[in-house]
Amino acid sequence: MEKIRQFFAQKLNLGSASNESLKVLETVDFDGVMKYIRDGCCKSVVTMAGAGMSTSAGIPDFRSPGSGLYDNLGKYDLPRPEAVFDISFFEKNPQPFFDLARQLYPSELKPTICHRFIRLLEQKGLLLRHYTQNIDTLERAAGVSDERIVEAHGTFHTSHCTGCRQRYDQQWMKDQIFSEDVPKCESCGAVVKPDIVFFGENLPSRFFRLVQDDLKKCDLLIIFGTSLAVQPFASLVDRVPDTCPRLLVNKEKCGRPNLLMRMMGQSGLEFDSSSNYRDVAWLGTCDDGAVAMAAALGWQEELRRLQGEDGARPEEAA
Ligand code: OAD
Repeated sequence: MEKIRQFFAQKLNLGSASNESLKVLETVDFDGVMKYIRDGCCKSVVTMAGAGMSTSAGIPDFRSPGSGLYDNLGKYDLPRPEAVFDISFFEKNPQPFFDLARQLYPSELKPTICHRFIRLLEQKGLLLRHYTQNIDTLERAAGVSDERIVEAHGTFHTSHCTGCRQRYDQQWMKDQIFSEDVPKCESCGAVVKPDIVFFGENLPSRFFRLVQDDLKKCDLLIIFGTSLAVQPFASLVDRVPDTCPRLLVNKEKCGRPNLLMRMMGQSGLEFDSSSNYRDVAWLGTCDDGAVAMAAALGWQEELRRLQGEDGARPEEAA
């Protein structure tokens, strides 16, 4: 009966009484979310990140038309762009992946303002966990502590031999990548692969171990720079409590469910639905979003200081 009532409430653009009881934001907009933080209503913020968070560090994203990685793989003669990250393709032909890694490897690992903002959330005691799809280790470089980070698609931080499983560190892999050879194990001669998750591989056990409890506890979800196109990562937005506000900071609105997601019981983000009571989209770059949040929360000075930490001029954060 409630479902039927909600259906008609949506169609007739009426507020839903049950949604009203779940609403914790005074206003369902950026200012409302900032007030919710300022008023101390959230203590367990979960952040989710994608490639858009690192583009200002010089690393391209995947799906932006023109500049995204998947639009620029023509010379590799791949069956489809995603094959470069497909484990069965890699097993047969690892060369395109390492060619690409050489091109993509940032000359210096300098975190963005948005990465610093995640660190600031941690320093404020608000960050429960940062789930990232990025493999660039910029969260670590920004000083977010290991315990707060879940690298859902793995990381370049470590690598393993695909034969004997010998472990190699980031510098070793970087040297190999720039030597233009496919990295081979010093013990057994098999290919060494960075510990990033390829299509066809499982996400790290740490992801599955933490996700359940973290998202149950989450009282504010902030999503930075991702198209929410890849599962199971994208489904995290559905796993927070119904009362949890969800703020997307991205160049475009995303996260609305497609037919397949609906069939899997996912509802995604609902910005434009008349029954929306908790989803807010802030459209722009992650860095500008982080600066806007810091301004609204009175944290500008601290963000500036963090940005200046590794020698950058403090004004760069403003
Ligand atoms: P995508 O390239 O799919 O999405 C990046 C999103 O960030 C897009 O919505 C862009 O509009 C937005 N964007 C780009 N620059 C931005 C900026 N400076 N500020 C704010 N938004 C910006 O990248 P992901 O969602 O991270 O997986 O992709 C998810 C996964 O797909 C990756 O982890 C990778 C890929 O296949 C694997 O390889 C397993």
